[in-house]
Amino acid sequence: MSDSHNAPEATRPAAPASAEPAGQPAHVPGVSVRHTRAKGEPRFPDGPRADPAGSHFERRIRSFQPRRSRVTAGQADALQRLWPKWGLDIDGQRVIDLAELFGNDNPVVLEIGFGMGEATAQMASADPGTNILAVDVHTPGQGNLLNLADQNGLSNVRVGNGDAIILLREMLTPDALDGLRVYFPDPWPKKRHHKRRLIQPEFLDLVATRIRPGGIVHCATDWEPYAEQMLEVLTAHPEFENTRSDGGFSPRPDFRPLTRFEGQGLDKGHVVNDLLFRRVQHHNQPPTGA
Ligand SMILES: C[S@@+](CC[C@H](N)C(=O)[O-])C[C@H]1O[C@@H](n2cnc3c(N)ncnc32)[C@H](O)[C@@H]1O
Repeated sequence: MSDSHNAPEATRPAAPASAEPAGQPAHVPGVSVRHTRAKGEPRFPDGPRADPAGSHFERRIRSFQPRRSRVTAGQADALQRLWPKWGLDIDGQRVIDLAELFGNDNPVVLEIGFGMGEATAQMASADPGTNILAVDVHTPGQGNLLNLADQNGLSNVRVGNGDAIILLREMLTPDALDGLRVYFPDPWPKKRHHKRRLIQPEFLDLVATRIRPGGIVHCATDWEPYAEQMLEVLTAHPEFENTRSDGGFSPRPDFRPLTRFEGQGLDKGHVVNDLLFRRVQHHNQPPTGA
C-alpha cells in the first residue's frame, strides 16, 4: 500500500462532455476510429487513458495481455460520451470513495475482467440494489459495457480501466467490497505462464483485506487445471471458507448468466466450474457491512 492510502481524496469530478475537436470528423458508424486521429493525439480525448498507472507499477507480472483491438464507432461514441460520467482510470494515485463514485451506500461488488460486459450488464439489471465496479483493460469492452449500461438505464455500473490489482492495492480501503467476481480469467495454460494466473495465494491475501467478512469471492473457469488450482488456493487460505459443505465446486448459480468466453469454452466441450468462497468472520472481529 502507498502512503496515499491514509489520505483519501475525492474521485475525479465528472468532466463535461466535449464537442468534436475542430477539424475532426464525427464518428461514422462502422468505420474504425483508428484512422481518424492525427499521430500523437489521444485515442479518446475524454475517454479512458492509455496505461493509466504508467510505468510506475509496471515492473511486475501481469495477468492480462495488452492488446490493441479495433473499436467500433458505437463503442468509440460511448467512450467519448459516457466515460466522464461512469469511467474510472486506475492510476493508483488516489483512494476512491465508493459511495461517492456510485452516488449511494449500496453494497459494491468488484468484477475483474468483464470482457465485453454482457453478463455484467445482465447482473446489474437483475440486481439494481448492488453496485458493480467492473474492471478490464480491454477498450472495446469498456465501450460496449458503457453502451449496454446506457441502453438499459443502469445506474449501478462503473467501468474501471486498468489493472485490478492496482485498484485493489492502492485505491480501495479495507473491507470496502461486498464481493468479488472473476469469471473466466485468462487461463494461461502454458506452464511458463502459470505465474500470470490471477488466482494465487498473494492475490487472495490482497483480496482478503478489501472484502468485508461475510463477502463472497465468486470465480468460474472452463479450464479444469485452473479450476483445481483455484480450489486448492482458496481452500488453503485462512481468510476464506467454501460455501459448499462438501468442499468442492459449485454448480453455476442462477444469478450468473452465461458469459461470452464461457460459451466459447462450452462449444469446445470444456467443463465449467464455479467456486463460491466466503470471507471468514473471525471471532475477535466486529461484524462489518450488511
Ligand atoms: C478470458 S477474458 C473473460 C471475459 C469475460 N469475463 C467472459 O467470461 O467473457 C478475461 C478478461 O480479463 C481481463 N483481465 C485479466 N487480468 C486483468 C487485470 N489484472 N485487471 C483487469 N482486467 C484483467 C482481460 O483483459 C480479459 O478481458
